[in-house]
Amino acid sequence: MTQKPDIRWLKVTDSTNNRALEGIPTEKDKTVWAAEFQTAGRGQRGNKWTSAEAQNLMFSILLKPDFILAKDQFIVSVIVTLGLESYLKTKGVETKIKWPNDIYAQDRKICGILIEHGISGDMLSSSVCGIGLNINQKEFPKDLPNPTSLILELERNGKKDQPAFCLKDELEELVSEIYRFYDQAREEYRQTGKYGTLYSLYLEKLYRKDEFHRYIETASNKEVEARIIGLSDTACIVLEYRDGSRKSFAFKEISYII
Ligand code: BTN
Repeated sequence: MTQKPDIRWLKVTDSTNNRALEGIPTEKDKTVWAAEFQTAGRGQRGNKWTSAEAQNLMFSILLKPDFILAKDQFIVSVIVTLGLESYLKTKGVETKIKWPNDIYAQDRKICGILIEHGISGDMLSSSVCGIGLNINQKEFPKDLPNPTSLILELERNGKKDQPAFCLKDELEELVSEIYRFYDQAREEYRQTGKYGTLYSLYLEKLYRKDEFHRYIETASNKEVEARIIGLSDTACIVLEYRDGSRKSFAFKEISYII
């Protein structure tokens, strides 16, 4: 039997990532902090993460992955994004993973992820996986680019009578799904010393893979047309241009035009 996940619900906190970071010295692997409201939610690239009170999931999972080498740290993104994609599919919504770790329903952002790793020697000692998944919210501030939520996507798919989801139940389901991929990663690494199956699944779910789209190369501010063909050994995204040449980019070195 699978155990119920250990989830600590908070009415208000500054950021659930901060609660999980504080928990590193004393709390065990697979502990979760979730909040109905965050006063200082943090996003990628130093951005803020704002979310309507008690309508969406905002939570952080503390992992203490004793089997993951520091150089393989991107596998934590793979685990978390595959868990989210799979959970959303069971709810009736097809999504893709926008490298490195957003979840998109077509061209709309349904989820953002902020992962903060701790390293000890060659190994990952902790990973705080902060996840903001829009669930029940139907209206968003105008300045957010293409936001969506689970309930809005179900409405688009013709399910107009969907009652609001119970956040506590949804979080248990979602976290269990993420742990399924975490346990699979441990097992795959134990058997093969690699994460081949999980990386292949990630590539299958990659947003805009193999299609030509427009991007901005950050260093030169140049707009280019290219297609994503995969990831490098260091988890950089590899783009192929119309002339067949290829280049890989780290996070922040490339931005999508959506
Ligand atoms: C992004 O910029 O897309 C990442 C957003 C991550 C937001 C989540 S909400 C729960 C956790 N606590 C935070 O302060 N940030 C993450």
